[in-house]
Amino acid sequence: MANLDYLIAEAQTDFTSCVDMPALENAKAKYLGKTGALTEALKGLGKLSTEERPAAGAAINVVKQAIETALNVRREAILGATQAKQLAGESLDVTLPARAQSQGGLHPVTLTLQRIEQLFHSIGFDVATGPEIETDFYNFTALNIPENHPARAMHDTFYVDETNVLRTHTSPVQIHYMENKAPPLKIISPGRVYRVDSDATHSPMFHQVEGLWVDENVSFANLKGVVQDFLQKFFERDDLTVRFRPSFFPFTEPSAEIDMSWNGGWLEIGGCGMVHPEVFKHVNIDSEKYRGFAFGLGVERLAMLRYGVNDLRHFFNNDLHFLQQFNK
Ligand code: PHE
Repeated sequence: MANLDYLIAEAQTDFTSCVDMPALENAKAKYLGKTGALTEALKGLGKLSTEERPAAGAAINVVKQAIETALNVRREAILGATQAKQLAGESLDVTLPARAQSQGGLHPVTLTLQRIEQLFHSIGFDVATGPEIETDFYNFTALNIPENHPARAMHDTFYVDETNVLRTHTSPVQIHYMENKAPPLKIISPGRVYRVDSDATHSPMFHQVEGLWVDENVSFANLKGVVQDFLQKFFERDDLTVRFRPSFFPFTEPSAEIDMSWNGGWLEIGGCGMVHPEVFKHVNIDSEKYRGFAFGLGVERLAMLRYGVNDLRHFFNNDLHFLQQFNK
């Protein structure tokens, strides 16, 4: 019986040259398969005498085991390498910074309203609100604008039906508030208003903030002081001044347009005046005892100036490139 020890070294060399499992299976067949070298050797045992057979069989088994061991060692190595390669491909660098989550932001008009509310709150004004659909009475009549009065033509009104309108200003909130509360009263009322108007500086829907202070000794000087103080804080400019230009509103007397100094000139930013006695009469406030001032400011105007926006329509186009600039 030939010595088969040389097969061990040969198998080891073969196995080592295999880099994947299919190749190793092929190599295995060469030694341990049905027609492999060892199987052939085992078949040859039958030709030996009974005395020779055990020793020869044992010798073949030693070789077979050695080859199986070599095969297992190589199999483990290949599986280990395959797994290592797979893990390397799937590796995660947990030290990388996380991808930022995109977050919505507040609309610039909302930011402006919040700033206005905060500043007036700091000097004792409460916030009051009213409906956007108003009766003719609250939007006009109670504000001393009777039917067929030319002042109604000052507002290009959206009519909902014969008696209801989309409010053309925030002044009707004055009426609601004074109907329900006794002086002293000190409120602002921010909100949407509507007028039939549309161009670079007018939108059919825009925002106003109304101011109302009613007490025994409220003066026109207080009005100017409050408005100027607010505007200085809003624009963070101590040198900002306010100019009152004589004007007319049916619900105030005297009345004025509010101009503020801006880049060496003047900009109109609202209207104001002392509450008209006729208005007090509608809400049962004694105009002999109480006086009040009221003002109305355009919110988009303030926002445009503060943020340097040159077209009012940017606020309502819902263009994310525009809006995202205000995400802080
Ligand atoms: N309501 C007026 C307007 O919309 C502004 C205003 C408010 C004027 C309060 C005087 C007092 O034009």
